Amino acid sequence: MKNILNAPFVREMCEATANMYRLGWDERNGGNISYMLDEKEVAEYLDVNKVIRTIPTGFSAEKLAGKIFIVTGTGKYFKNVEKDPETNLGIVRIAKDGTTAELLWGYKDGGKFTSEFPAHMMSHVSRLEADKDHRIVMHTHPTYTIAMNAVCPIDEKDFTHKLWQSNTEAVVVFPDGVGVLPCMVCGTNEIGVATAEKMKKFRLVVWTNHGIYGTGKNMDEAFGLIETVEKTAQIYMLTLGRVVNVIPDEIIKGLADLWHLTPMEGVLD
Ligand code: 13P
Ligand code: ZN
Repeated sequence: MKNILNAPFVREMCEATANMYRLGWDERNGGNISYMLDEKEVAEYLDVNKVIRTIPTGFSAEKLAGKIFIVTGTGKYFKNVEKDPETNLGIVRIAKDGTTAELLWGYKDGGKFTSEFPAHMMSHVSRLEADKDHRIVMHTHPTYTIAMNAVCPIDEKDFTHKLWQSNTEAVVVFPDGVGVLPCMVCGTNEIGVATAEKMKKFRLVVWTNHGIYGTGKNMDEAFGLIETVEKTAQIYMLTLGRVVNVIPDEIIKGLADLWHLTPMEGVLD
């Protein structure tokens, strides 16, 4: 059996959480990541038939039965993942009943997966239906994204337009736009259901007054989406009230045409 601490998926979780912490997005235990793994790859590092303990999820995710995820632990600090992956991360398999998680590795101090597990798992279901290669759900608290969301109406077309108008990269990176949910109680099945509904259409969903979710085929895609929103929101906030040059709609359309992209409907004139 190979050493799991050297497994590419453990390294990727360590690198992503460290980067996100250093960017100032994940104060204290803020943020969480879940990453769907290939069972054959996991089996090189673990006996996948050995369940350490079972943890009820509190919701049903039958469509994910048998799927294995590496997930950040609840209450765990992103800044600490790198130095102790086995305490701060866990590998769980959704059991046949769809309502139990089987712990295969990690959460060494008796901990469990993130409190946002419902939003993560339900979002995996939505994104897998949209894209069979989908793997990652990433949630974080980037400062400028939260600030911009606080000064803009809760209107995903308007929010997307403002982002596209502030940075020429924005429409190219997320032509499908950004979904926006109103302020809700986090850590609940209800916010999970609402997030997953948005995820049928969007790879990015803002939680008003809280943060953002990004998804993707791999860590770079999910991270790159959030990073581009955050950079653009920073430009928006730094120029707010003083801007004289917004990117015209013809240029945004020209960028989309150049890259053969279809921009989210109803945003551009
Ligand atoms: P967890 O520590 O449970 O992952 O919660 C952090 C968070 O960002 C809640 O939205
Ligand atoms: Zn959060």
